Amino acid sequence: MLGRDSSIAIHRSFVVQEVTGCSGGGSDEMKTQYRDMFNLDGRVAIITGAGRGIGKAIGHALGAWGAKIVVADIDSDLAKGTVDELEAAGIDAIAVVLDITASGAPKDLFDTAESRFGRTDILVNNAGVSARIPAESYPDADFDAMVDLNLGAVFRGMREAASRWIKEEHPGVIINLASFAGVVADPLSAPYAATKGAVVQLTRTCAVEWAPYGIRVNAIGPGYVRTEMTAHTLDTPEAGAVIRAKTALGRAGRTDEIANAALYLAADASSYTTGHILMVDGGWTAA
Ligand SMILES: NC(=O)c1ccc[n+]([C@@H]2O[C@H](COP(=O)([O-])OP(=O)(O)OC[C@H]3O[C@@H](n4cnc5c(N)ncnc54)[C@H](O)[C@@H]3O)[C@@H](O)[C@H]2O)c1
Repeated sequence: MLGRDSSIAIHRSFVVQEVTGCSGGGSDEMKTQYRDMFNLDGRVAIITGAGRGIGKAIGHALGAWGAKIVVADIDSDLAKGTVDELEAAGIDAIAVVLDITASGAPKDLFDTAESRFGRTDILVNNAGVSARIPAESYPDADFDAMVDLNLGAVFRGMREAASRWIKEEHPGVIINLASFAGVVADPLSAPYAATKGAVVQLTRTCAVEWAPYGIRVNAIGPGYVRTEMTAHTLDTPEAGAVIRAKTALGRAGRTDEIANAALYLAADASSYTTGHILMVDGGWTAA
């Protein structure tokens, strides 16, 4: 297992490479160097909302490359189900059952992760809700709950991670789940779109603010991905047809296609990427 010192040493070796260029001498050495770029051995990833859907797939992707996974979810059956799946795949994982919007939840989550695994390296702010309701009749209570989870909990999680990593001089990685709806209009989703647009700006702003500490902050902007969140909409003939027509690749995404992006952003392969919103949307926002 990589200790924190060796992780920092690896991080520093990238700084040296900024001056020397690629450090590889022969082609075998370079192959190893490129393979190691995705190695997450010994690192600990906290993923909120990993009980199902995109968060669960991210757990599999990071775990497959060696990360230990902290599955944080409000639903205990889902959280335990993900942990069982990960363990069956040979991945070290624990479930932390909590409502991430509750007072003190991010602190409890990081404390539990550290007491079990001794460190934290990656935070994936994935838990979120969506709703398709006309803006003119959107209920106040639903608006407040959505902002609290999709934006408030994301910010509080980022703050918890960064305050610890700055104190520890540890270059951690934050990945936020934004959305195509955070950068272009998606009618019937005004509050959802607003929270995701805010996550885009949180990502950019904190990336610049925390760059001096080596902390990287990026976001993923998925298009429509088939999960329990979207199945109803995708299976409604009219809405499903509109979604396929607006997606250049002509289909909904799969959760593993989003997880691949998270793997890149979590790994040293993306060591020079921060403040970036990686659109994984089948070309929706390119059109
Ligand atoms: N599926 C898509 O098409 C899509 C598109 C763009 C962005 N996203 C974003 O990706 C993320 C994951 O989406 P998904 O489709 O996998 O959703 P999902 O509904 O399938 O899964 C969300 C998970 O979060 C958990 N959760 C909900 N509230 C929580 C809380 N308060 N505390 C802790 N856990 C909580 C749920 O129990 C569930 O396991 C969300 O932020 C979503 O907005 C999804």
